[in-house]
Amino acid sequence: MEADVLLVPAPPDPERLIGRLVIVMDILRATTTIVTALMRGARAVIPVVEVEEGRAVAARLPPGTVLLGGERGSLRIDGYDLGNSPREYTAEMVRGRTIVLTTTNGTRMLRTLAGAAEILVGCYLNLGAVARTAAAGGRDVLVACAGRLGGVSLEDVVGAGAVVAALEEVAAPLSLTDAARVARELYREYAADVGRSFRDSAHGQELLRLGLAEDLAFCATRDLTQIVPGCVDGVIRPAAPPGPVSEGPPA
Ligand code: MLT
Repeated sequence: MEADVLLVPAPPDPERLIGRLVIVMDILRATTTIVTALMRGARAVIPVVEVEEGRAVAARLPPGTVLLGGERGSLRIDGYDLGNSPREYTAEMVRGRTIVLTTTNGTRMLRTLAGAAEILVGCYLNLGAVARTAAAGGRDVLVACAGRLGGVSLEDVVGAGAVVAALEEVAAPLSLTDAARVARELYREYAADVGRSFRDSAHGQELLRLGLAEDLAFCATRDLTQIVPGCVDGVIRPAAPPGPVSEGPPA
């Protein structure tokens, strides 16, 4: 089995997706928000790219079953029900609902991966469960960093390295591409405190300037849930990894 990492969020060469399981990481904050929403009982998350597209998708769903979530410039979009802070996605708010979500980088990345054999959504909250699911599937893995405005983001590369390190524990033999080695080595620099990678990153600093330090603390929480969301035909739904399952914490 091979682990590869897409360090920069350019749409991957279709050849690089064939037969692969792709794990999308936008640690700050889109994939953390998606995992949180599903962990708190949302029925599904539909990732969209544009703000107006979100409104149109939501309008086609039965009234009362859908919430619009997302951000531009890290702030809630006018007229949307929720922003992109995972802490807003409480059980009271999201249970039984479908969330239509648009974010600057994360939902865009999720929409560029048609052609992959499987697409999973990863973050620190479900790190171990994602690695176990990927290992059990036996496919070659590509961890796709959503990055920031088309460039590398430190926290996503560190997060991708955490997935590679977790895969090394559960998937043997595992061969690493050079990109996977780069991510794993960077993760080792931050493993004792992944929150430091947030504080060192441009996007983390922006969120701190906006007074969202609590989001950073939450996004650094490891293994809070066993849920491993999968994206099929543009809709993300929860699933659990194979093997014994322990309950996530109460909402
Ligand atoms: C994104 O997708 O660009 C991010 O999740 C931005 C954010 O932190 O809201």
